Amino acid sequence: MTQIAVLPGDGIGPEVTDAAVRVLDAAHPGLTFVEAPVGANAIALVDEPLPAETVRICSESAAILFGAVGGPGYDDLPPDKRPEAAILGLRKHFNLFANVRPARVFPGMETRSPLRRELVDGMDLVFVRELTGGLYFGAKAITHEHGHEVARDTLVYVDDEIERVARFAFALARMRRKRLTSVDKNNVLISSQLWRRIVIDVANDYPDVTLDHMLVDNAAMQLVRDPRAFDVIVTENMFGDILSDEAAMITGTIGTAASAALSGAPDANGFGLYEPISGTAPDIAGKKLANPIGAILSAALLARYSLGDEAGAAAIERAVAETLVDGPRTRDLDGAAGASTDAVADAIVKRISRVAV
Ligand code: NAD
Ligand code: IPM
Ligand code: MN
Repeated sequence: MTQIAVLPGDGIGPEVTDAAVRVLDAAHPGLTFVEAPVGANAIALVDEPLPAETVRICSESAAILFGAVGGPGYDDLPPDKRPEAAILGLRKHFNLFANVRPARVFPGMETRSPLRRELVDGMDLVFVRELTGGLYFGAKAITHEHGHEVARDTLVYVDDEIERVARFAFALARMRRKRLTSVDKNNVLISSQLWRRIVIDVANDYPDVTLDHMLVDNAAMQLVRDPRAFDVIVTENMFGDILSDEAAMITGTIGTAASAALSGAPDANGFGLYEPISGTAPDIAGKKLANPIGAILSAALLARYSLGDEAGAAAIERAVAETLVDGPRTRDLDGAAGASTDAVADAIVKRISRVAV
């Protein structure tokens, strides 16, 4: 029996993860789901955001389905005590260095984008965000110097960390439209100079992929000017965090944005962590208003990347696409007339089951 670790987390995490489990079970029957605490609810239970028992359950599983962690009340804690330490710890522990974050406008969603429809019609790009290095994982320190409080975060990259994520991104571009944009800040940061040099070196092994480079401030602008110009974007951890939320919103809502965190090649069919890119949405948590589609499409990525079940992944994506056209849709897309989280999940499960029988 293939086991999936389910880590619902906090806020809307449990609501959307429940939907994703139901959909995955319908598309790929026979999986065993084992739930474990993580984030603020783990702090409440055992006083730490990532209990060893949760990590053990994950290591015995084929993949992790993750909700979201975080919430009000933890802002004054040091980073390693906060709920968010759980997701960072899991990425690092399992060496999940490549974060795939698709940003695609589904048919029917063109009018939901804050951009004019003619700019986004057919938008289909994917970020490969470096996930275990860079500004998130370099040394941090708070010191007192000359009567001042000083805070340091460090942006560190080792050459092989850049090389492996670049190879991942080239391999993914090869499976798509064969265009790769590497985003950096090489006019200011020496880490970006190393990044660019290594990406250029790696490009020699992928002559069929067209590579270009863009500074991150310009990339933020080009994403709203012409999002269809991009195919695959590879970038540093923090740059990817910010740009992927921007791109998600351009597709109409962050509520449909999915992600996969992987440690091998895109076609390796290995272990991975799958989560919607959004957070715990404290403003709507517990009200069944959250869009579950980001979590559901993350389950589709789980089927594709960890189970090697392309048919299951495609069945989920088809059911989501139909549901986005015909409804029901949640409030982030339909305003006050929006349906509940469960109504959307039910509709997607029903559309999958209809195909299966
Ligand atoms: P957020 O993504 O939680 O919410 C931003 C806005 O988007 C809110 O208005 C929210 O209602 C809306 N939104 C998010 N997901 C939605 C969905 N599925 N359906 C409909 N609307 C949705 O970002 P935030 O408010 O900056 O962060 C809240 C908490 O979540 C923080 O503690 C943060 O650290 C945490 N966080 C966790 C993760 C994670 O676990 N991977 C990711 C991002 C943020
Ligand atoms: C994300 C989130 C996380 C990140 C936080 C919760 C640590 O924003 O997955 O995008 O910054 O990576
Ligand atoms: Mn983020």
